[in-house]
Amino acid sequence: MNQQVTKICKDFISELDDAIGKQKAENIFILTDDNTAHFCLPEVLKSEKLTGCHLINIPNGDENKNIESAVGIWKYLSENRATRKSLMINVGGGMITDIGGFTASTFKRGIRYINISTSLLGAVDAATGGKTGINFLGLKNEIGVFAPAESVLINIDFFKTLDAKNLRSGYAEMVKHALIDTREEWNVILSFDLENINFDELRELVDRSIRVKERVVEQDPKEQNIRKALNLGHTFGHAFESYSYKTERPALHGYAVIWGLLCELYLSHIKLNFPKEDLIKLRNLIKEYYGSFIIDCSDYENLFELMTHDKKNESNEINFTLLSDIGEIHINQTATKEEIFECFDFYAGF
Ligand code: GLY
Repeated sequence: MNQQVTKICKDFISELDDAIGKQKAENIFILTDDNTAHFCLPEVLKSEKLTGCHLINIPNGDENKNIESAVGIWKYLSENRATRKSLMINVGGGMITDIGGFTASTFKRGIRYINISTSLLGAVDAATGGKTGINFLGLKNEIGVFAPAESVLINIDFFKTLDAKNLRSGYAEMVKHALIDTREEWNVILSFDLENINFDELRELVDRSIRVKERVVEQDPKEQNIRKALNLGHTFGHAFESYSYKTERPALHGYAVIWGLLCELYLSHIKLNFPKEDLIKLRNLIKEYYGSFIIDCSDYENLFELMTHDKKNESNEINFTLLSDIGEIHINQTATKEEIFECFDFYAGF
């Protein structure tokens, strides 16, 4: 797998020009959704390398990351003479970089693509690492391939149009990266002021966070072992996310992840002696910036049931990544139903 380079841009247009120039593409296709076509595309099109490029737009929202949208993109590429030497540029959050990466890497057995991540969540997670895909039959990312982008460009200025909730949602994945990395990263992440965002500081933190992910992905691009570290918080987190939609209290992905992190650090504490003071620090961060998704014991069975369907499970056992300390990663961990319910009790009472 190629090594992927994610750049936090200082001079977006000239770095975009460089990234496009390196590809020497025959023609270029830009993929956007309704939001990024409006808010970000005009800036992207300032690149002189994009004169005469083709524009493909799909409706925004994860519900449109589906086979119908993929067919629409392939059809457009086909009808507009995309070849193996074409280049696709995906301008958007995780939904666009996932479907754009997937359609590009399957069209004519694969054309090159660049991701321009326009959301904080997408920048620190989906845009980097080569996972691409679409949802299918109600299952998230059910169809996809590992196929890294030629380059990933992050323009922090795009984040200035995000609301506080979307910024906090992205920040949750940065919290996860710090937890699996070092105590130094954890302390840095805890000291950031999410109430009054300093975008210069955020740029530095995003850079550090993406390097954590890149280091992990480089060791295990296809998630056979250590890449599972990136699933920390996501076993409980995906259950919270699905349940939030089922109970019509939709939660953003990163909110579900940070609540999932709290449960999984508690599980880490009872099973692997993860330090209680760090668990409390995470709880305080959540109290200050995220609030909680209210559950009581009547919800436990439903949440547990959702966890049994998680695609990370093996041999009918729920699979977790846990920590014995900051940066001390234990993949392929399991827990009993009683232990999982104890985590719900801890979470419900925080
Ligand atoms: N989102 C986790 C990963 O890329 O592996």
